[in-house]
Amino acid sequence: YRDLRVALLGCGSVGAQTARLILEHGEELASRIGARLTLAGIAVRDVTAKRDVDLPQELFTTDAERLVQGADIVIELMGGIEPARTLIMQALQGGADVVTANKALIAAYGSELSDAAEQVGAQLSYEAAVAAAIPILRPLRESLAGDHITRVLGIVNGSTNYILDRMDRFGDSAEDAMRVASELGYLEADPTLDVEGYDAAQKATILASIAFHTEVPVAAVYREGISGITLTQIEAAKHAGFVIKLLAIAERITAADGVAGVSARVYPALIRRDHPLAAVYGGKNAVFVEAEAAGELMFYGAGAGGAETASAVLGDLVSAARRHVVGGPGIPGSLHAELPILPVGEVNTAY
Ligand code: HSE
Repeated sequence: YRDLRVALLGCGSVGAQTARLILEHGEELASRIGARLTLAGIAVRDVTAKRDVDLPQELFTTDAERLVQGADIVIELMGGIEPARTLIMQALQGGADVVTANKALIAAYGSELSDAAEQVGAQLSYEAAVAAAIPILRPLRESLAGDHITRVLGIVNGSTNYILDRMDRFGDSAEDAMRVASELGYLEADPTLDVEGYDAAQKATILASIAFHTEVPVAAVYREGISGITLTQIEAAKHAGFVIKLLAIAERITAADGVAGVSARVYPALIRRDHPLAAVYGGKNAVFVEAEAAGELMFYGAGAGGAETASAVLGDLVSAARRHVVGGPGIPGSLHAELPILPVGEVNTAY
């Protein structure tokens, strides 16, 4: 087998699990790919920091830029905009394929980075950025490429789903449910990102852009979080046959003046109790897709967690590695502005 040099940027819970899977599954992956994945190094801020997984100390370096040079595939799991964006750009310009789980970066710069990748014939993939372990971006982009997607309804934030579920099924007050979620470590370091729907809005941007082949900026996503939701509202919804879930919605709609476009929005929505999304309990995620020919599809699973997110990263890594062996154009990344983005107008609010 030939060797493919893999550079890993970041070693938090997802990075550590990704490194573990590359090292542990190496032999099996080599035969599956037709090339050996060599973990060339792991760039971190502090080489002495404690990690979730025991990894060979000699892999660690603080020199991310140097590690990126000469890599065939770069995996970015640092999070945040900089230096991730610059390093990814450098990697792509150097001809490397890039895999990232960075939802904030892709939501803000996905189109720019995909165009840069396409220009040099490299592949940029980010399956792990939305709903972690759940394969959803590849099905939207590839499996449904010949269909006509009409609507995507996603429970894409696990911590708010956990909070709403505790209120709905166990009668917790909003404060109690929030406290439990926080104790379990479900919330982001800044809980506002979850509770006010910013995290879901970033994921809505990515889902809407891919489903409708149109760059949908985060600023165009209508956003409302769950902080105003009370137990009384949840009980009233239950009484009427609904459950309240924070949904990220991307939909093809026709405005009153007849213009067809995309609507992207995040808000606590009413879901009929017999809808499959109503049964997504606890901290789980699910994405419900409606397409003209395929009909209804649902993708369900873990939307967070080190190993769970690393599973999606590894899938993208194997796909990128296969490209090095068999060639080919890889995953189409560029968006073509197929539809205008419409403001939230007269759209459904119950599903
Ligand atoms: N804070 C996110 C969530 C983590 O609750 O789903 C995964 O993106």
